Amino acid sequence: MYEKVVLTFIFVFLLIISYSIFMGTLDIRSYFFPHLKSPTLEPAPCSPDPPLRVYMYDLPRRFNVEMITHRTASESPVTVKDWPPWPDNWGLKKQHSVEYWMMGSLLHEGEDGESREAVRVFDPEFADAFFVPFFSSLSFNSHGHTMTDPATEIDRQLQVDVMEFLTKSKYWQRSRGRDHIFPMTHPNAFRFLRNQVNDTIQVVVDFGRYPKGMSNLNKDVVSPYVHVVDSFTDDEPEDPYEARSTLLFFRGRTFRKDEGIVRAKLTKILSGYSDVHYERSVATGENIKASSKGMRSSKFCLHPAGDTPSSCRLFDAIVSHCVPVIVSDQIELPFEDQIDYSQFSLFFSFKEALQPGYMIDHLRKFPKQKWTEMWRQLKNNSHHYEFQYPPKRGDAVNMLWRQIKHKLPEVTLSIHRSRRLKIPDWWHRR
Ligand SMILES: *[C@@H]1O[C@H](CO)[C@@H](O)[C@H](O)[C@H]1NC(C)=O
Ligand SMILES: *[C@@H]1O[C@H](CO)[C@@H](O)[C@H](O)[C@H]1NC(C)=O
Repeated sequence: MYEKVVLTFIFVFLLIISYSIFMGTLDIRSYFFPHLKSPTLEPAPCSPDPPLRVYMYDLPRRFNVEMITHRTASESPVTVKDWPPWPDNWGLKKQHSVEYWMMGSLLHEGEDGESREAVRVFDPEFADAFFVPFFSSLSFNSHGHTMTDPATEIDRQLQVDVMEFLTKSKYWQRSRGRDHIFPMTHPNAFRFLRNQVNDTIQVVVDFGRYPKGMSNLNKDVVSPYVHVVDSFTDDEPEDPYEARSTLLFFRGRTFRKDEGIVRAKLTKILSGYSDVHYERSVATGENIKASSKGMRSSKFCLHPAGDTPSSCRLFDAIVSHCVPVIVSDQIELPFEDQIDYSQFSLFFSFKEALQPGYMIDHLRKFPKQKWTEMWRQLKNNSHHYEFQYPPKRGDAVNMLWRQIKHKLPEVTLSIHRSRRLKIPDWWHRR
């Protein structure tokens, strides 16, 4: 009798235990292996953000790499195996090659555990965003550069074909392209049909030429230009301040449109100083070398507005570790939610810069120790401005993907609102 009771007791006890394990209320693993944490219950303490999942459309090569390789037309999209290198001798064309490096970063398969901001997904249902691999800047540079020659028709036709392709896609239709990414760094990229991609996420270098309805900071991403001078990799002098003998350096065209008027005026204001190098020149291969030499031997590098508020010169200065002096009232800078430019750059308004003596006086009095700190910050941050294949952690392409990730909540908000609005968006009319 007594034994029966004990047996029943044990039986019931076992039943409760196995039920608890089955229902998940009791975690025996943590009983017996307290140091083994169940991976599904708690995230690792510093798990990196999950990468952005990007779907890349399969476009024939004439929309992208064929402009580089000039091989015969192939309808099949480029693969990682036949991804061409960026041509070494293309000089200035490189400054607008952001589209090429972004596409390469999606093709590159990468290794496990490699920290990446974006990965390619092959099923659009799983995508956070959609990448359109059309080299719109290179298309302008290769086909339409003079704006009037017959080749410009090729540029226009490519734009028409891309839009025809996209507007048939259900993923385009469901958001009117709001979650679609278009690299458009050249100010004339996609110039014929730009107003058909108003809602998309555009990768631009500034907002100089376009109305707010087409391009703005709420949805678009500011990219650096791809620098054209070589990066200064062995910049290790004992006294970097003394090693750079020129106070202020500028080399470039001095007659530009729009905001660029300031350049002509600066020519006057900055003449007559022995430690200021202010030189008119046009960019050529030889001149790129001379600019690089000049920037590496100067403490400050002037970045006045040109035709547009930004230019490649700023990023050439950064990778030469020459403290940028930015004179542009309307510049927007890349990655500014992650990088504080005041730690390694100086800013002057037009008004200040055009006051005779004001800027030079300020630069001459700038404390050596503070300058050295800025130089150090430049060295520490310049990898964020490197475009390369394969991409590396924290480089320009990964920074761009991260920026796009930051825009997505705003994009989703806009998609959801657009689905229920019965009238044109009333915010735009305020
Ligand atoms: C795109 O934006 C521009 C400027 O805001 C506007 O003039 C144009 O009508 C827009 N295009 C479309 C298709 O909505
Ligand atoms: C440079 O970056 C490293 C880590 O990337 C950091 O430890 C160091 O403090 C930085 N130096 C400066 C001067 O900010």
